Amino acid sequence: MNYENILITTENNIATVTINRPTKLNALNVATISDLHKAFKILAKNDEIRAIVLTGSGEKAFVAGADISEFAHFSIEEGTQLAAEGQEKLFDFIENLKTPVIAAVNGFALGGGLELAMACHFRVASDNAKMGLPEVSLGVIPGYGGTQRLPQLVGKGRAMELIMTAGMLTATEAHGMGLVNHVVPQEELVAFCMTIAGKIIKNSPYAIGKAIKAVNANFKEGKNGYEAEIKAFGKCFGTQDFKEGTTAFLEKRKAVFTGK
Ligand code: COA
Repeated sequence: MNYENILITTENNIATVTINRPTKLNALNVATISDLHKAFKILAKNDEIRAIVLTGSGEKAFVAGADISEFAHFSIEEGTQLAAEGQEKLFDFIENLKTPVIAAVNGFALGGGLELAMACHFRVASDNAKMGLPEVSLGVIPGYGGTQRLPQLVGKGRAMELIMTAGMLTATEAHGMGLVNHVVPQEELVAFCMTIAGKIIKNSPYAIGKAIKAVNANFKEGKNGYEAEIKAFGKCFGTQDFKEGTTAFLEKRKAVFTGK
């Protein structure tokens, strides 16, 4: 499949998705959100793909936000729809994917860009990365889940300050608050993420999908995370992956998982 605004490469069961609008600092317009939605949908259905790394093209930006030129003249209804559609098609969609998604934050991750990184399962930043939610400086608030996911990741007080000041964090500051898991030199970023992805894909894809679901359940209204965990734990016992994982351990060999 050909995409207008993204590039996809695959290597050793790991897909790298690169947002490719470098002259606009990879700003998320509607067409890019649609490309990403289609790509993630297809990748998630592909059993060969066991992990996904999401990054931005160029050395300057991961994503510098939602495309301001597209929504500057929107009405209340259009603004509401923009946030609702974006959350459903991309941000919630990635968060709930069974396939693990690592954000390789290679530069500015602002507004929708930081929201996109936060929707991924975890984040690694390059040492030149800058992160923030500057929406209030434009007279609007984060609309792609930023008011929810930032407090989950860094705590309410820090999130309130970052959102209200429209400030930018350096990669080191973001690391200090747990917003990103690692900071590495820019030229090593994607390779570093591939190494982590390489460790992930040795494990049971079925169990990883269920672990993502159980962790996410803690943050879902009306869900009991402990109950979700019990249910998911139980389901694992009916899988080939569980049989293979336990048998391989007892036979002192490496497990070969199928995700079934
Ligand atoms: N939406 C649309 N276009 C954007 C954009 C966005 N969020 N962020 C950057 N761009 C465009 C610029 O308009 C410019 O396009 P042009 O060359 O056609 O004029 C191009 O990307 C390069 O950006 P520029 O501002 O010239 O780069 P810079 O190095 O001077 O500044 C930033 C970098 C990230 C500080 C600055 O681009 C910026 O503040 N962007 C908006 C961030 C933001 O508010 N995001 C939240 C949106 S909800």
